[in-house]
Amino acid sequence: MQKSKREASSAYSDYMSRVGRETIPCYEPSFGQEEIILLTKVIKNGWLSEKNFTREFEEKLARICGRLHALAFSHGTDALITGMKALGIGEGDEVIVPSLAHSADPNAIAATGATPIFADVDENTMCLNVATIQKVRTDKTKAILFIALYGSAKGIDAVSSYARREKLYLVNDCAPALFGVYKKRSIASYGEFSMLSFFADKTITTGEGGMLLTDKSSLIDEANIYKHDGRRERGVDLIERRGYNFRITELQSAVGVAQLKKAPRFVFRKRAILKAYTKRLKGVSEVRVFDFANESDICPHRVVIFVPEAEPLIKHLVARGIGARTLFMPMHSQPCYNTGEKFPMTEKLYKTGVCLPSAPSLRDEQVGFVCEIIKNFYLRI
Ligand SMILES: Cc1ncc(COP(=O)(O)O)c(C=O)c1O
Repeated sequence: MQKSKREASSAYSDYMSRVGRETIPCYEPSFGQEEIILLTKVIKNGWLSEKNFTREFEEKLARICGRLHALAFSHGTDALITGMKALGIGEGDEVIVPSLAHSADPNAIAATGATPIFADVDENTMCLNVATIQKVRTDKTKAILFIALYGSAKGIDAVSSYARREKLYLVNDCAPALFGVYKKRSIASYGEFSMLSFFADKTITTGEGGMLLTDKSSLIDEANIYKHDGRRERGVDLIERRGYNFRITELQSAVGVAQLKKAPRFVFRKRAILKAYTKRLKGVSEVRVFDFANESDICPHRVVIFVPEAEPLIKHLVARGIGARTLFMPMHSQPCYNTGEKFPMTEKLYKTGVCLPSAPSLRDEQVGFVCEIIKNFYLRI
């Protein structure tokens, strides 16, 4: 094996054994009979490429998100690339994206041929705001990629109005914000198009998978061509675009449909878990639980706390089998971008933010245990 491959494989096994030792995981999916029954139907039917379950998954999500159209994808990243290409974003264009992002966001912009332009975030929302956008805007700016980080979307209405006024596209990465509502609107209903991810740590999961949501039929038609290798559908030989195979499988969609049936329970539990952490950590002066509320009815993706220094607390929690994580590592200082810029809020949030275990399967006594460990850490017991 090549040295670099060996190193990567050993980093992955270290990661897997660390995660395996966590008795309270950062996140875990909730699967059961519902998924098995629908998966069995697909296997017995014998057609594994997109079919009825995929159409049902799309229709249900469009309704939940207050959108006219939904198109399923193999990943959220693919929905982002395709949606931006369908808007005509490409070489010579700039797209503003927060540095506090999943790598999929700047990478998707780069994959269209456009240039990702990093911006700082608002300390109180963890998201872009009009001021941070204006600081980096140029004549080449074609779109703003808003990220509803960990489910927070405070201020997306102001960013949306700004984008409309300035004739910029608003792309909404609400991968972690499914079922969240902001100012009486589904978070996924904001933007020219929005994107969901169904990776294993999301509120509903299909293992991997994504969705593009929009009200524009022209955008969905164009995205559909890119998604189907540049043709309008399977069975068509005419290649109209240099496209991709970004289809989800029928197996994944069946799991998605089963997960949607259980989603109200997941959402209820995720909100209850956030409340339980907030109550139990009240009075710990070193800890601020991120407040998702304020004109919103959020389904938190992760419970996020801010402390004087994230790293020592994370080490302490992980050593005790608790799956705590940092926030996303700022993208502007990652080796493949490394722009040399300074984004004080992004850097501060990264150094002080901790994601706590927040799977719907988490029991109240486990929340209590995590909070006791945090309290003891600051009391140095
Ligand atoms: C905020 C955010 N954006 C984008 C993505 C990428 O989605 P996917 O892994 O489905 O491509 C994720 C996935 O975890 C995410 O959390």
